[in-house]
Amino acid sequence: MRAESVPPSRVRARPVLVANWKLHGDGVHVNHWIETLSKLDLIGSGRLEAIVCPPAIWLERARAHLHGDRLALGIQDVSAYAEGAFTGEISAAMAAEAGARYALVGHSERRRLFGETDAVVVAKASQAVHAGLVPILCVGETAEERQGDKTEAVLTRQLAGCASWRTDPMAPLWIAYEPVWSIGTGHAATAEHIRAAAQIIRTHLAASDATMVDRIRLLYGGSVGTGNAAALSAIAGIDGLLVGGASVQVESMIALCRAVTGEESPS
Ligand code: PGA
Repeated sequence: MRAESVPPSRVRARPVLVANWKLHGDGVHVNHWIETLSKLDLIGSGRLEAIVCPPAIWLERARAHLHGDRLALGIQDVSAYAEGAFTGEISAAMAAEAGARYALVGHSERRRLFGETDAVVVAKASQAVHAGLVPILCVGETAEERQGDKTEAVLTRQLAGCASWRTDPMAPLWIAYEPVWSIGTGHAATAEHIRAAAQIIRTHLAASDATMVDRIRLLYGGSVGTGNAAALSAIAGIDGLLVGGASVQVESMIALCRAVTGEESPS
């Protein structure tokens, strides 16, 4: 993987932790998880930005159980359309009304299992921005693409639409680098690999809009757990983590919060 250099002028903000439950959790789970986490002192302290993306049907229930505004809600996917005859879809505006402030778009499971193309992902990101949500655009290469030395080409292609849908240059954009081969496998990418990918992403964005690169937040996702979260979140150029499996149980999420803020777990 090749990466050109970008000026290292960034000030590190507080770490971001995004919990992506995927297709997990019933109503009782939502109540317990949200209540427990949003009452955690560490969440109230504002030392990290914690965001949870439950299944969309639970957004309003989750909102009803929040204490304070330190824990934010996100949706795992939004429609590429604003409205119309699209059975089963949920628009970004509906998600915003239900309490979401963030939207994952282009997660590799959506791309791989549900056939989402780069064009569809760009349309979804555009809908999210339009509705006032912060899009978290997921990008990453497969194992085959990595072995074929195509990581840079894949990331560049997946990011290519960014400039076009960002009609408001000040609109926030978050990127989650999630190598497909590391998701749910127990094999997180190495620090060296993540640094190189982060450099490619920032270099590409800087080339299309020099000011954008200072405003994006760049997350890493893929087999993040309580044992590696501290090290992964400390990687230069990484602003936070997107966590799947290890975020579903609230005890594990609390341990992740402590890990990324450097707080010791009470013994
Ligand atoms: P994982 O999933 O943490 O279970 O690997 C990450 C993701 O898919 O966002």
